[in-house]
Amino acid sequence: MLMTDKDAFRKGIRRIIITEEQIREAVAECGSWISREYEGKPLLLVSVLKGAFVFLSDLCKAVTIPCEVGFMAAQSYFEGTSSAGRVNITYDLTQDISGYHVIIVEDIIDTGRTLKLIAELLRDRHPLSLKIVTLLDKPDRRIVELEADRSLFTIPDHFVIGYGLDCAEYYRNLPYIAEYGAEEG
Ligand code: IMP
Ligand code: MG
Repeated sequence: MLMTDKDAFRKGIRRIIITEEQIREAVAECGSWISREYEGKPLLLVSVLKGAFVFLSDLCKAVTIPCEVGFMAAQSYFEGTSSAGRVNITYDLTQDISGYHVIIVEDIIDTGRTLKLIAELLRDRHPLSLKIVTLLDKPDRRIVELEADRSLFTIPDHFVIGYGLDCAEYYRNLPYIAEYGAEEG
């Protein structure tokens, strides 16, 4: 459904849980860590569209060593709530990743199902190394075993929006992370 009403938009934003300032600090710190850890190494930051595009955009600016960025888009299919699934890559990287140290840059790890399939797929392409950095982690929701190498914020099991994360494609443009609340008021 298309949204054009400012009040309806505002109503969806229940409560800010991570401010712009908190995000800025955490992203700067993560960028410094990457810059130290990967100095002198061919580095590729890979993002799975669309959710992580804002995080990747800020994170790559906080990295002070040479790096490339790459994007993938995927559709995943699972049998009900199980972890058995398939992932269909609808847009793929243009780089052959075998010559790179790869960091997957994610917006949020929820059940972990999609990211696990993507990590396996990238691992099969034999990068020099593969790590996962996520902005948000909802460990209570996990149904497959998957841990990020670095997670900027751990959050409880609430649906969140902003800073790239959407609800029905809206709210990605909020500069902070908020809890989504439809039935308020
Ligand atoms: P999963 O880890 O395979 O369950 O899927 C994670 C994906 O679901 C993320 O990349 C998001 O696109 C989406 N997602 C999970 N939780 C939220 C949320 O709280 N807000 C917005 N999107 C979410
Ligand atoms: Mg995502």
